[in-house]
Amino acid sequence: MTTARTLALIVAAGKGERAGGACPKQFAPLGGRAVVAWSVDALRAHPGVGGIYVVTGADQHDQLAAALDGRTVDGVVTGGADRHASVRAGLEAIAAAGGCDNVLIHDAARPGLPAAVVDRLLAALRDAPGAVPTLACADTLTRRSADARGVGDVVDRSTLLRIQTPQAFHFDAILAAHRAYTGTPATDDAQVLRAHGGQVLAVDGDGRLEKVTMPEDFSRTEAMLGPGRISRTGMGFDVHRLEVGEELWLCGVRVPHDKGLAGHSDADVALHALTDALLGAIAAGDIGAHFPPSDPQWRGAASDKFLAYARDLIVARGGVIDHVDVTIICEAPKIGPHREAMRARIAEILAIDIAAVSVKATTTERLGFTGRGEGIATQAVATVRL
Ligand code: CTP
Ligand code: MG
Repeated sequence: MTTARTLALIVAAGKGERAGGACPKQFAPLGGRAVVAWSVDALRAHPGVGGIYVVTGADQHDQLAAALDGRTVDGVVTGGADRHASVRAGLEAIAAAGGCDNVLIHDAARPGLPAAVVDRLLAALRDAPGAVPTLACADTLTRRSADARGVGDVVDRSTLLRIQTPQAFHFDAILAAHRAYTGTPATDDAQVLRAHGGQVLAVDGDGRLEKVTMPEDFSRTEAMLGPGRISRTGMGFDVHRLEVGEELWLCGVRVPHDKGLAGHSDADVALHALTDALLGAIAAGDIGAHFPPSDPQWRGAASDKFLAYARDLIVARGGVIDHVDVTIICEAPKIGPHREAMRARIAEILAIDIAAVSVKATTTERLGFTGRGEGIATQAVATVRL
């Protein structure tokens, strides 16, 4: 008996508009790797999967390569304007390369793929040309009211299923169904096979397969994928002297003031303390060890480089940054008006949710060097999971 050849087809050509963010969600970092890399790793590790094709946007090939971070796949295919077109492009590429027996069509935006779901899908393909992971609906379901402002009639949830991916098919059946399909673009492939008369079985899905769709889904998914990591805390402290004629940079934000901080780089005392806190959390030395003040290349450098470097070290170790907290100690300027901009800038550099970034300020009641306005001190604490 020969074993069936099964290929995985991951669709990663979307724009991720609802998720917002600097790059499409499938390429965004999540728990130490890009979202799409989780599915590649899970499918590669499954003994029933013999190869992986990834579909990406015409202008996304570089982003995909960066997200795969050295992982190789069997084919990269350019997708289309909607998911339906992207799947079709992937199926045609597999067909052109000789086809296969079974195909698992999977959304890159579902990074939490348990091996048991793949087992159930492949088992079901012995009985039908299609199989999909499904979940029952736990909440009460209703229609919207006619004016869409309220709720309307209850829909019997026992008759409904939520459908996830991967969706598994006999390759020739789903290819023929896609080629024959003439309806409006389909949101999944089970409906394409059914439109062509093919039977699709429901197997048990898994909560971890929930799709990353909205911005808030990232932290929920990260928490789901991250159990087993150990939480570690690092702290940092830094001081720079205030001098006339210098620019004042705090938390990566230019703050108007009659003096600025002097020192190595742009002297952003807050980012330096925060960088040390992150390095401390992974026991990776201090900022001076990585960026020696004696090295001329760091003269006047923007300190966001140092912070991004510390983040990259954590990500490279498979770590997750859970939270950072910065306390700026100075008599002036007032930090309050700049606090939100500072939080946003740190969140951007660290690629974490702004809700996980705290910026606080305090004075020392005119006591000491900060009280006399001779300098600014900053403390920072960072919590990461490794
Ligand atoms: N997808 C695709 N090609 C498209 C559109 C979507 O390959 N033209 C992929 C997405 O990358 C994602 C999956 O289909 O992995 C599910 O789509 P969805 O969650 O809607 O992702 P996006 O279309 O990227 O997000 P949005 O609709 O919010 O823009
Ligand atoms: Mg979409």
